[in-house]
Amino acid sequence: MQAINALPLLSLLLLSTCLLCSAFTSKDYSDALGKSILFFEGQRSGKLPPNQRLTWRGDSGLSDGSSSQVNLTGGYYDAGDNVKFGLPVAFTTTLLAWSVVEFGSSMPGQIENAKAAVRWSADYLLKAATETPGTLYVQVGDPNMDHKCWERPEDMDTPRNVYKVSAENPGSDVAAETAAALAAASIVFKDSDHSYSARLLQTAIKVFDFADKYRGSYSDSLGSVVCPFYCSYSGYQDELLWGASWIHRASQNGSYLAYIQSNGHAMGADDDVYSFSWDDKRAGTKILLSKGFLEKNSEDFHRYKAHSDNYICSLIPGTSNFQAEYTPGGLLYKGSQSNLQYVTTTSFLLLAYAKYLKSNRGGASAAVSCGGSAVSADRLVSLARKQVDYILGDNPAKMSYMVGFGPRFPLHIHHRGSSVPSVRAHPDRIPCNVGFQYLYSGSPNPNVLVGAIVGGPDIWDGYADDRNNYQQSEPATYINAPLVGALAFFSSH
Ligand SMILES: *[C@@H]1O[C@H](CO)[C@@H](O)[C@H](O)[C@H]1NC(C)=O
Ligand SMILES: *[C@@H]1O[C@H](CO)[C@@H](O)[C@H](O)[C@H]1NC(C)=O
Repeated sequence: MQAINALPLLSLLLLSTCLLCSAFTSKDYSDALGKSILFFEGQRSGKLPPNQRLTWRGDSGLSDGSSSQVNLTGGYYDAGDNVKFGLPVAFTTTLLAWSVVEFGSSMPGQIENAKAAVRWSADYLLKAATETPGTLYVQVGDPNMDHKCWERPEDMDTPRNVYKVSAENPGSDVAAETAAALAAASIVFKDSDHSYSARLLQTAIKVFDFADKYRGSYSDSLGSVVCPFYCSYSGYQDELLWGASWIHRASQNGSYLAYIQSNGHAMGADDDVYSFSWDDKRAGTKILLSKGFLEKNSEDFHRYKAHSDNYICSLIPGTSNFQAEYTPGGLLYKGSQSNLQYVTTTSFLLLAYAKYLKSNRGGASAAVSCGGSAVSADRLVSLARKQVDYILGDNPAKMSYMVGFGPRFPLHIHHRGSSVPSVRAHPDRIPCNVGFQYLYSGSPNPNVLVGAIVGGPDIWDGYADDRNNYQQSEPATYINAPLVGALAFFSSH
């Protein structure tokens, strides 16, 4: 009798431990976390500091801005080319800062590196916003010319044209995202560097005011230098609401709450959209604002909890609002171009929302309401874990999509600096056209861009590891930024 009863009990125990078990240990997540931050050092533009750890990179773009008599050195190259694009890099900065704001206490060993990664970008955005009053510099480099070459950043000699938005040529999308980035970064430095934090917040407020006052999309003002690269398809309303939400979070100033309340509806707060990216901020804004309702029970934010629930339910199979697509191996799939960007933003939002739900006044009782059924915060955490584990190698291809992590990872990433020999190994210039031999070469990249997350597999979990397939093999700062927060969470849970 006892022996028969013990069996189901035993399997139940095994099953319940396995719900929490994962292919990775917290040590693995810590390792991946360190690498995910290290990646940003490989994307640095400007003069590299003495403590630069990815030493195959050198100084680059030292006269950026000089064609317009301003100093725009520094900042990040957003992906595998050498253009400094404002919209995706500002979004990267916001998400990197949000990672630190929510999960900084889970990354004790990496907090200084994470803050340095935020500061590298925040310093640049401060320059871009303050060099010329009434102007925000939003891009350095002509992408059409840049893409005609395959050059290391250290060698680049394509036109470093400077692009800006102003009262006459507005760009509320890029400006409000820059305001969001500066405000989020101000929270990161609130305790450790008060004066820097205050400067970030004051600048955020000015840039937001400019974005709001002179309305228009930068796609209309700048045309073919931003489209189709980082065209603002979703317009600028979503960024205005997102920017106001971040300034509200950073300042707790009631005028931004009033702004959110009077403009929310017109700015898309009631649209249910199911992806979150450098282009469309609506889902992230709702999760961010739901914190006010969940943690402070503020009725001002009630509707954002309901909209956040709709977003979350769209990801949960079996619930009434379910509409996401997953690969056979279980990866969230939004599209063939850099799909992992959606996976990392979604994983981050799942974990941030789970955190807000758990810190709800009712404690563990807060749940997501999907039609008639309740979905627990733990279910969100396990969905996020599934996605993160997939990225790190627990997938049908047994491939890690983080460069330098695990036994098998992409060797042929679409990245100029990583694929052309380093300036250390080959100090002589490698000019524009000569570099293409490295794009088309079958050899692995000589410089390992440790921590880079690539665009990722196709809808059938297949990955080509082909440098010329940029949809799959190109890394980007906005793919990594939200993963930093997610990896911090799993390294300590
Ligand atoms: C640009 O500013 C940086 C500090 O952010 C400074 O180190 C550098 O010398 C300046 N470059 C020029 C060309 O003035
Ligand atoms: C709140 O923000 C508004 C708009 O930026 C500003 O005019 C006001 O002075 C701020 N209030 C405080 C207390 O800082």
